[in-house]
Amino acid sequence: SEPLRLGIAGLGTVGVGVIRIIRQKAAQLEARTGRKVVITAVSARSQKDRGVPLDGYAWEADPVKLATRDDVDVFVELMGGADGPAKESTEAALKAGKDVVTANKAMLAEHGQELALLAEGEGRVLRFEAAVAGGIPVIKALTEGLAGNDITRVIGVMNGSCNYILTRMENANLTYEEAFAEADGLGYLEADPELDVGGIDAAHKLALLAAISFGTQVKFDGVQLEGIGRVTIEDIRQAADMGYKIKLLGTAQMTGRGLVQSMSPCLVPATSPLGQLEGGTNMVVLEGDHVGQIVLRGAGAGEGPTASAVMSDVIDIARGLRLPTFGQPANTLKTTPSANSGTP
Ligand code: HSE
Repeated sequence: SEPLRLGIAGLGTVGVGVIRIIRQKAAQLEARTGRKVVITAVSARSQKDRGVPLDGYAWEADPVKLATRDDVDVFVELMGGADGPAKESTEAALKAGKDVVTANKAMLAEHGQELALLAEGEGRVLRFEAAVAGGIPVIKALTEGLAGNDITRVIGVMNGSCNYILTRMENANLTYEEAFAEADGLGYLEADPELDVGGIDAAHKLALLAAISFGTQVKFDGVQLEGIGRVTIEDIRQAADMGYKIKLLGTAQMTGRGLVQSMSPCLVPATSPLGQLEGGTNMVVLEGDHVGQIVLRGAGAGEGPTASAVMSDVIDIARGLRLPTFGQPANTLKTTPSANSGTP
């Protein structure tokens, strides 16, 4: 059959990781999907050396042009940003008959309903496994592995940078400012660190998981949100004295009053799986009415893990698996009141 032709916009850490996988695993990809998976064109802000060969790929400075090229079947959006070029090129790709794979949590959290409606109206696929918890296949767990369940609750640590900062405060007795500076120096923080420490990045991910879990429209502004900026060493010491750790914990649950979504520093028992989660790792706990509790743990960021998740969506498309963006058609997603969780 015909090769699946990718156009990749954004050649940062994740884009480079995707190129590496496709160059290393051509034979496996063909065996697993029944067709060749190839890159035809790329786009980025500059043509600087990124440590991977780009020869053989057409270069497009403008991501909208890349997204609408005749020799692109799947537009892979790895630029980031809720609006601007990411959204423009995603819309252009869908309207031009392309499928889209993105890692863009902010864009999906803000515009997911609109973009999913557009994709499904055009008969196209829009997938975003890499947007939530990096390498952990949590969206596929919900939409495929657990599709026979009603999900009753989703809990998790979904921002590795915050977990790193809190772990360093706990283990190395650093102040918040010192741990923040260390994380920044290691390149762990987003370009705008407030997205991490303000809990916004994690809340984007939670809102996306809640929509998939409960069949509701994404409601990012319904997340009760508090970041980690006010957590002190004294808080962490007091929690430790009682046998607890402080984690930036997300919870989504459907109640009689509506959807409760919260992302805030919480006490968790030190000996629990969440309490033992150290460093830049993520953990998502899913509860289904038939399966019970499932715990997923792994790298929430970084080149290999995030590229792994992007590839899982590309491979689904190459196999002809055409799932709706949120696990059910966007026009069937419910609106529901946001209930106040009472926390923090
Ligand atoms: N800044 C994010 C984190 C990156 O630390 O988890 C992945 O979304």
